Amino acid sequence: MSDGTIETVDLTYWYSGNDWASLDDVSIKIRKGVKTVILGANGAGKSTLFYHFNGVFKPSAGSVSFNGEVISYRRKALRALRSKVSVVLQNPDDQIFGQTVEEDVAYGPTNLGLDDDEIESRVSRALRLVGLDDLRDRNTLKLSYGQRKRLALAGALAMEPEVLIMDEPTAGLDPQMALELMELAEQLHHSGTTVVISTHDVDLAYAWADEIHVLRRGELIYSGRSEEFYSDPIRVYTTGVMQPSMFLINKSLCDMRGQPEAPYPRTETQLISKMASGPKGRFLIMPVSDRLDKYMVDAAVDEVGGDLAIGLYGAVTRSMLFDSMLPVNYVFDGFESCMSECLMGRDSLLLCDADCVDLILAKMERLKDFGTVVEFKVLDDPHSGSA
Ligand SMILES: Nc1ncnc2c1ncn2[C@@H]1O[C@H](COP(=O)(O)OP(=O)(O)OP(=O)(O)O)[C@@H](O)[C@H]1O
Ligand SMILES: [Mg+2]
Repeated sequence: MSDGTIETVDLTYWYSGNDWASLDDVSIKIRKGVKTVILGANGAGKSTLFYHFNGVFKPSAGSVSFNGEVISYRRKALRALRSKVSVVLQNPDDQIFGQTVEEDVAYGPTNLGLDDDEIESRVSRALRLVGLDDLRDRNTLKLSYGQRKRLALAGALAMEPEVLIMDEPTAGLDPQMALELMELAEQLHHSGTTVVISTHDVDLAYAWADEIHVLRRGELIYSGRSEEFYSDPIRVYTTGVMQPSMFLINKSLCDMRGQPEAPYPRTETQLISKMASGPKGRFLIMPVSDRLDKYMVDAAVDEVGGDLAIGLYGAVTRSMLFDSMLPVNYVFDGFESCMSECLMGRDSLLLCDADCVDLILAKMERLKDFGTVVEFKVLDDPHSGSA
């Protein structure tokens, strides 16, 4: 058994006509269940590498394997591979074939031979997750660039792959969709999908990745945890990227206070947790079943006996906000913002998708590394169980 979901050994690739290798002896191991970022400047070889992960490109030399077996390039084997490894390409136009949004998302599940009900349920779910459900019948030629990016992602999600690989997923998305996409990536990871992202956005990479693999002009120059890589400013500079702002802020604050840099905060909440002293607020979590309304907030206000900050987590809960007219403080990034409020002394309520409670608890558990224990409670949705 191999713990490497995808592994390349001495992978080398020459585009025909080039007198240089776009990938040069790259040996990389993408480990199952590890949030992975492939980092590199423009032209480093990220997209070329991804084309190898689902067998679109065949190595000029070396090999690519999936779950311990070297990839076969026969048509049937490739179809089986692509049902497990979905790559969302950098340019959505390279993978949109359907005439309408719905047809395009249904294309993959139909090829898997699934029955009509299953195809319909996967298409609806995928479109809802990327916020395109109201454009089901739209001609794909009439979508904006960001909408086409979302559509390409929906097509991959509908395959329900073991490994989801996204090439520059946030480039070209509006800030809200970029945040939603990273939230979705976190949920997919939590539910067992191995998620791999390529980017040159170091802030995104730093906040999200458990492990980074860094490419420079076709060569793999680093694999491991982020901090060791970013601690060497010359290496970061010659790779064509920057040190993440959270890494630098932590360094400056720790220098100023004479504190050790470790543990390294990756998010604003972790940083506040490390730095803040003083009384903390209570953190209330309420899974949302099928509606969002003031009775839920009233239940939380009764619990703390006064004012609280309200945030949302998850696409399903967020989709109910408009009709609910709730006075929500944090529509996006609700966990981070509500927790920051708690760390600064204010009680908070996080209304979240019903299947995200475990994930929220895991995020809270990680905060303990930064010295903070916040009192929390999971409240029942007053509507749960009601018709
Ligand atoms: N179709 C092609 N034909 C010839 N050379 C190519 C082709 N596509 C990419 N290359 C070359 O291969 C190298 C790696 O390109 P690749 O697109 O994989 O980089 P990347 O890391 O994805 O960059 P970006 O951040 O700009 O997307 C570059 O030197 C590029 O010029
Ligand atoms: Mg690329």
